[in-house]
Amino acid sequence: MKNLQPVRGTRDLLGDQARRFDFIVKTAFDVAQKFGFERIDTPVFEYTNVFKRAVGETTDIVGKEMYTFNDRGDEELTLKPEGTAPVVRALISNALTQKLPLKFSYYGAMFRYERPQKGRYRQLHQFGVELFGIDNPVADAEIIGMGASIIKALGLSTKLHINTLGDVESRNNYKAALVEYFSKFISDLSDDSKNRLHKNPLRILDSKDEMDKKISENAPKGEDFLNKQSAEFYNKVCAALNAINIDFVADNKLVRGLDYYTHTAFEFKSNELGSQDAVGGGGRYDGLVEHMGGPAIPGVGFGIGVDRLAILLENQAFKKPNSIALIVIGDYLNEALKIAFDLRAQGHNVEIIYKNNIGKAFKEAEKFARYVMIIGEDEVKMQSVKLKDLFLPLEHPNKERLVAISKLHEMISNG
Ligand code: HAM
Repeated sequence: MKNLQPVRGTRDLLGDQARRFDFIVKTAFDVAQKFGFERIDTPVFEYTNVFKRAVGETTDIVGKEMYTFNDRGDEELTLKPEGTAPVVRALISNALTQKLPLKFSYYGAMFRYERPQKGRYRQLHQFGVELFGIDNPVADAEIIGMGASIIKALGLSTKLHINTLGDVESRNNYKAALVEYFSKFISDLSDDSKNRLHKNPLRILDSKDEMDKKISENAPKGEDFLNKQSAEFYNKVCAALNAINIDFVADNKLVRGLDYYTHTAFEFKSNELGSQDAVGGGGRYDGLVEHMGGPAIPGVGFGIGVDRLAILLENQAFKKPNSIALIVIGDYLNEALKIAFDLRAQGHNVEIIYKNNIGKAFKEAEKFARYVMIIGEDEVKMQSVKLKDLFLPLEHPNKERLVAISKLHEMISNG
């Protein structure tokens, strides 16, 4: 029955995959906390205008990908396709604009009606951060550095691409030059690019169409249209990245799919993801708060795709962290129960294996546990358990030991 399948582009997250997601999200929040960022959770849906205004009417997201519906009270609502617009809305509706700077981190499901493929889902999951109230270019480098730190803390590596879109003046001059250039090739451009020519010519640079790509090769370069302030701003971002030893590629073709960016734009890319190679992206959006109806407050942030990070972590085993499996031989479940509750109270992850057959019990334990504790008649008499560390090699003297119950916490805590 079709209705018992998950909706196309959505998935259930469970087992290893759920553990991978947990690990990514926990690591990301831990890193963000080191930078002073605090969690914000905005609703799953907003009035459609929040996204139309912030992301831009000519973008793919607003034009083709939003899950928009009228509720029973005839309000037009949209499931959030991205996280920045709702956070800006929250900043304004909670009257937080006097309390700057503000540093927010968030995680949640987002929804885009895209064609599903590897690394691209209709329900996606992003971790993101937004910093409001700092217009210093060094803050851009700090935000980029936070993204890089999260990726590193996950044991992954990606390539950082950065670009500048300049301020409004620089960008308008550049757009005019692009319209003039692309107009000469109008009949050869793809239909999408023809549509974008006057509304959003920067997006043509990002087209995947082969002919568009060829034409774009000789298009005017953004850096030639930067005014002095914008060029200086970009140089300071690059210098600050150098100061913290973050490698980057200056990529003048990098234009992001959302309209709110000014100055810095960046993406973390991986070559292990096929065509959906952006693991995360972000940039500065100085005009956005004002454009949404608030005061003129600068902002910078990023969103990283947890689904894509999870693909990069797929080759790693995800055991439950330092878990303990308790195997019981004979009628000693109550004794095991007591040990399990005491160890949990001391901070350990413990699961009792409810199987009488020791072979089967062991098989189950091996699936998730680092430590296996065996408790039977002899052990109960000696107020001890047999402790096996599955992470140690066979010949290691501590591979299997008899440990007094009173010493278990200490023994396990010391690894
Ligand atoms: P974005 O580039 O549209 O930026 O999305 C950020 C990341 O979300 C992407 O790099 C990608 O990893 C992931 N992502 C996007 N769409 C999908 C999808 N359909 N399936 C799986 N993963 C996906 C933003 O959304 C901005 N709000 C980021 C930002 C925050 N800029 C400033 N602050």
